Amino acid sequence: MRRGASVGDYRALAKARLPHFLFQYIDGGSYDEVTLRRNVEDLQSIALRQRVLRDVSEIDLSTELFGTRWTMPVGLGPIGLAGLNARRGEVQAARAAGAAGVPFTLSTVAACSIEEVARDSGRRFWFQLYMVRDRGFMRELIARAREAQCGALLFTVDLPTPGARYGDTRSGLTGSHGFKARLRRMGQMLSRPDWCWDVGVHGKPHAMGNLTNVVGEGSGLDDFGTWIANNFDASVTWKEIDWIRSEWPGPLVVKGILDPDDARQALASGADAIVVSNHGGRQLDGVSSTARALPRVADAIAGQMPILVDGGVRSGLDVVRMLALGASFVLLGRAWVFALGARGQAGVAHVLKLVDAEMRVAMALTGCTSIDQINEQVLDRSGNQATF
Ligand code: GLV
Repeated sequence: MRRGASVGDYRALAKARLPHFLFQYIDGGSYDEVTLRRNVEDLQSIALRQRVLRDVSEIDLSTELFGTRWTMPVGLGPIGLAGLNARRGEVQAARAAGAAGVPFTLSTVAACSIEEVARDSGRRFWFQLYMVRDRGFMRELIARAREAQCGALLFTVDLPTPGARYGDTRSGLTGSHGFKARLRRMGQMLSRPDWCWDVGVHGKPHAMGNLTNVVGEGSGLDDFGTWIANNFDASVTWKEIDWIRSEWPGPLVVKGILDPDDARQALASGADAIVVSNHGGRQLDGVSSTARALPRVADAIAGQMPILVDGGVRSGLDVVRMLALGASFVLLGRAWVFALGARGQAGVAHVLKLVDAEMRVAMALTGCTSIDQINEQVLDRSGNQATF
């Protein structure tokens, strides 16, 4: 399997290896994909301030979050269906993250179940939770995450109802169910023989492991999709945080905050941290990029809790930019799944190495030797560059 030199290369390699509907699901966003593009472009447009002749021979990337010292302030964010991009993909990703000393987050709608990832990766990980109507099911899911000693619960709040992803309709992943859609996906799978061998033949079951209790063993992707569409709960309010808190004693992270008022409310509701996120440009198209939203959220929170962020992060330079804008920790999304799709565990491990190396260069050339030195001082505020 080919090695990429950058996250961009891994995107191209994943595109060549994955059936179109899987690649499209990772790569695409909602509606006209304006926010998807803004996430990347706004972040990359932020100019860093080059500083020289400081002793930067020793650089320490390590950071503490939720009582654990991580090798760098970077984790793998939750991605639905990630495990279909490589054989038992979430297990492979959890192994790569664990070996690199960074957290992996398992999605509710992952291919591998909580128990499978715990057993086969031998690593502790974080778990991401959606609000579904069936509170009994949620209670059980939280209990399973507790049992697996998950290190944090990321409660996703920006998906009370799904944004339309037209690319997924075109690819046959969503929209038209039944024989025709299956046939279309089958054609796309057969055109990717390496993936067929790795995942199609050796990567079974092709299900959403955490949902098989409710949807049924041996169900197809369409059945899981229908269950999700019928069960997401749009009536959720801040009160639900109390309920989750009563079920979950560990770090509780509210994921999907873009507005300073919501950030204040998350703090008041007793969350331990937030993730500034617009769901990777997959929900409300037209909302601001996370890079633009972050400084205002950071002002509102004023250091009272950690702020995680995702959206548009494609390099270690982007991680440094996010930290300079006020984040404490940065989640990768597409970056790690492209690598998983291209090269499995080795790809994810390599992307984490790339991010580490890129961060070191960005820190050396902005004159920072530790994570706590990265602040707005590393941004170029000369006036002709975007600094938000
Ligand atoms: C799920 O969270 C998705 O964005 O598809």
